[in-house]
Amino acid sequence: MNTTSVWRATAPKTAFPILQEEATADVVIVGGGITGITLALNLVEQGTSVILLEARDVGCGSTGNSTGNLYETISSGIRTIVDRWGEDVAHAVSTARRKAVEQIEQRVRQFNIPCEFRRCALYRYATSASAQTSIENEYQGSLKAGLRAHFEKTLPTPFEQPHGPVLVLNNQAQFQPQAYVEGLAREAANRGCRIFENSIVLGVDTDQHVVSTANGKVKAREIVLATHSPIGMHLVQAEMTVKREYGLATRIPRGSFPEGIFWGSGVERLSVRSLDVDNESFFVCVGEEHKTGQQDTSISMDRLESAAHANFKVPEAEFRWSAQNYSAADGLPYIGRDATGCFIATGFATDGLTYGTVAASLIADQIAGRDNVFAPIVKASRFSPLKGAKGLAEENVTVLKSLVKDYVTDRESIPLSQLMPGKAAMVKFEDVSLAAYRDPDGALFAVSPVCTHMKCKVHWNAVESSWDCPCHGSRFAPDGTVIEGPATEPLYRHFLPGH
Ligand SMILES: Cc1cc2nc3c(=O)[nH]c(=O)nc-3n(C[C@H](O)[C@H](O)[C@H](O)COP(=O)(O)OP(=O)(O)OC[C@H]3O[C@@H](n4cnc5c(N)ncnc54)[C@H](O)[C@@H]3O)c2cc1C
Ligand code: FES
Repeated sequence: MNTTSVWRATAPKTAFPILQEEATADVVIVGGGITGITLALNLVEQGTSVILLEARDVGCGSTGNSTGNLYETISSGIRTIVDRWGEDVAHAVSTARRKAVEQIEQRVRQFNIPCEFRRCALYRYATSASAQTSIENEYQGSLKAGLRAHFEKTLPTPFEQPHGPVLVLNNQAQFQPQAYVEGLAREAANRGCRIFENSIVLGVDTDQHVVSTANGKVKAREIVLATHSPIGMHLVQAEMTVKREYGLATRIPRGSFPEGIFWGSGVERLSVRSLDVDNESFFVCVGEEHKTGQQDTSISMDRLESAAHANFKVPEAEFRWSAQNYSAADGLPYIGRDATGCFIATGFATDGLTYGTVAASLIADQIAGRDNVFAPIVKASRFSPLKGAKGLAEENVTVLKSLVKDYVTDRESIPLSQLMPGKAAMVKFEDVSLAAYRDPDGALFAVSPVCTHMKCKVHWNAVESSWDCPCHGSRFAPDGTVIEGPATEPLYRHFLPGH
């Protein structure tokens, strides 16, 4: 299935070179999503020399596969921060996020970035009676966090009337995330940042301050891992849940869908919006979140399409995609220097277009030795077992279950001869378990199913034709190549002559 998002399909492409040298800079940033690119621009603007290394191309991670919504609150509800951390922290979160949205707006105007930025309202509503109380509680939480929330009675056409009142936050925003990061990348490059694409970082030497790719190395005073989840082994990985979520877009007549961020909560949890690009308009629908590597991905995609069609009568999807998010057990992101001495920025849940922008300001401040009032709240080295107890326990159970279930029961495997073109399965070959995929032309790719990060076993993702690890979210192509970290080593490839 083609899984290019509407954002990546409708934005122009960047073309930065591959790193093929040994270079030095004040700061090396690994990762060209909104966090890395915004940080690169912040740093070159303050006179710091920067090299940015991106594994594939700018925006290809979650940034270019998101929903493109920008807001002061958080999608799981700012009330969760009020309850866990208190009103002051919730206030600090909403203030930092508001400033980040303002910074995005200011840069769009300053650089004239054609990324469909618009101010709009955010509507949160219940799609089933059981979710009504959560909307009412979120209203109280929003007020405590300093947000100007109010209730309205109805939603605009074509929405069905919700259960109970609609919680509204005015003056939030939307944009085309891929076009925005590409615009920022060009501005950073114009100011001297050296950006390299198709330059996956395979090693990070924190003693020597060197990062290496297949064809080059960068030595820098500071290393920033803006890789969504930090690559390699980091303590925060044990405290985060990794989930995949699905998106689709379909063409609609201009003006047939209202402007705004629409979040339905209840039995059906969908985020919907519209997008106008040049003369075309699209309806965008995102949902069906599940833990990575733990569900049949094609069923999730089908469910999303059915829900979009049933609720909004839209035609068949033209774009379908999926992306990953990482949530911290205690509800706050991790931003700053971690125990390895690198800067990291992760745990953004589904709020990282804004949190990534917050992180870029915070890390730029720390590198320049400036105080940042938000830094102590989200510091990467914090350990808050009581605030994150439930999430932590659940996540460790997930990892343990994946290890035990897959190793003790040795997931059902089929004989290699039964593997049909276009299908993947665990197969037994000379008593060895292999993760095998036969492409539509019949070519066989057989790899070890053991994730090279911390040895959990990978599961097949039929929507994106990848092997996904349920433990910390690493993803691998059928030939074992790393698509998404924290793993940096490929799955071991087996060549089976004659098959
Ligand atoms: C379906 C979905 C919808 C979402 N919608 C929204 C939304 O509307 N609003 C919002 O605020 N947030 C949203 N989010 C969350 C948001 O998209 C992310 O939190 C945000 O994009 C993270 O940005 P990032 O730059 O930190 O990571 P990414 O955008 O993932 O960028 C990380 C980059 O690092 C690169 N990389 C990884 N490993 C290496 C390596 N070894 N070497 C070199 N490069 C490497 C990757 O290729 C990637 O380009 C959504 C998330 C999902 C999954
Ligand atoms: S991602 Fe950590 S074990 Fe696979």
